[in-house]
Amino acid sequence: MGKVYVFDHPLIQHKLTFIRKKDTGTKEFREITNEIAGLMMFEITRHLPLREVEVETPVETATCKTIAGKKLGIVPILRAGLGMVDGILDMIPAAKVGHVGLYRDPQTLMPVEYYVKLPKDVSEREMIVVDPMLATGGSAIEAINVLKRDGAKNIKLMCLVAAPEGVEKMQEAHPDIDIYLAALDEKLNEKGYIIPGLGDAGDRLFGTK
Ligand code: PRP
Ligand code: URA
Repeated sequence: MGKVYVFDHPLIQHKLTFIRKKDTGTKEFREITNEIAGLMMFEITRHLPLREVEVETPVETATCKTIAGKKLGIVPILRAGLGMVDGILDMIPAAKVGHVGLYRDPQTLMPVEYYVKLPKDVSEREMIVVDPMLATGGSAIEAINVLKRDGAKNIKLMCLVAAPEGVEKMQEAHPDIDIYLAALDEKLNEKGYIIPGLGDAGDRLFGTK
């Protein structure tokens, strides 16, 4: 069964409070979402293996460390996942970025796929699917289906806010996937919104309704 990690770092929790507030406007919401994504990435990459390399400093030869092993790929779920990409790339500028376009049908709440473009070598990369919201879980489950179909073997899911219902569905559908969150909220309401949540992440990021 995949593990669920909720990052309780004070900076992440503090920033999350700002984007939950309904009065936080688009500009701030966008900036802070990226900041949280960057901080979460910092924690998620803690396990990355290092190898030793020799470099010439201006003074002498030094044995230093550099990241070894698997390369990373980021896959934002369109649209709202886009709001996390810049913050992640600030931490890992060389990461490849794939895109999976899905929207939730407002009546059925089922994900509808409209765009997929992934890096060539997903099977050799550690792929991190990113979306601010894990509600019913349908969108993230489908995005991971798409990645697995393309050969990805090492996948993580990173969301800002999740509902327990979505986490459970994800664990049933993809028991091999670890989930990284800034908050695990109380429940879903009858319209499939996370309670207390932060509203519609895509609309708040892009100023739409
Ligand atoms: C939101 C959110 C997730 C999805 C979560 O996207 O960004 O992708 O809903 O809900 P689920 O877990 O029940 O699938 P939305 O469908 O509103 O599209 P958008 O990102 O284009 O706004
Ligand atoms: N999608 C969102 O953007 N917010 C929710 O609360 C649920 C799904």
